[in-house]
Amino acid sequence: MRRIIAGNWKMNGLQAARAQALALAEGVAAATAAGTQLPRVVVCPPATLLADIARDLAGTAVETGGQDCHTGTSGAHTGDVSAQMLADAGARLVILGHSERRADHGEADALVAAKVTAALAAGLEAIVCVGETEAERDAGRAEAVVLGQLAGSLPEGVDPAAVTIAYEPVWAIGTGRTPTVADVAAMHGAIRAALVARFGAEAGGAVAILYGGSVKPSNAAELMAVADVNGALVGGASLKAGDFLPIVLA
Ligand code: PGA
Repeated sequence: MRRIIAGNWKMNGLQAARAQALALAEGVAAATAAGTQLPRVVVCPPATLLADIARDLAGTAVETGGQDCHTGTSGAHTGDVSAQMLADAGARLVILGHSERRADHGEADALVAAKVTAALAAGLEAIVCVGETEAERDAGRAEAVVLGQLAGSLPEGVDPAAVTIAYEPVWAIGTGRTPTVADVAAMHGAIRAALVARFGAEAGGAVAILYGGSVKPSNAAELMAVADVNGALVGGASLKAGDFLPIVLA
């Protein structure tokens, strides 16, 4: 499958940040012109910048995505954004079930699964996030937690071709800490096995599994070389093109 490097801007970015997305697109274009084989590159800005950035990036190789969506298409849900609205604003993908959504908004697997259904119905691809807390890892429950989230966050009958998984250990997000290469390999292998068991060897083997959590230029190459790591979901280091581009090129 084609690898994916996605940047999650979270609740960061005012109008001036549009320049970072444009600089990223210029860097991607230059690397492509130089013959470098690149992954899919995705920027997920806050909802307020999505339409502007999608327009700015039209005609470039950089795609845009949302960071969350509602389960419905429209209606009386003050403050929420539907998948259809994201698609209408130019998004191709949407991050769902991020650990910050799960923690800050109490999103459980069933809600994430309903959001995946809504996203796919709107023609978006879903990046579904899973990951254990430090306490869960210390208790030896990391794999059980992650595989439970994976099973519960993908709705019955989902098209695996429209889904990407992001494994993001909660304790590695924004902390500068990362799991060992062996731990990443073990978890990605377990996720791959679960996907193959659920969707079959071909379809389950074709789902991209991203690693996320303190990915930066200095560790990207090592992490991206791990078996069954098919790309990255990048938070802090995606805010500046000067940090994000080296990760894309790694
Ligand atoms: P980080 O965030 O790269 O800042 O650790 C990753 C994420 O939450 O997607």
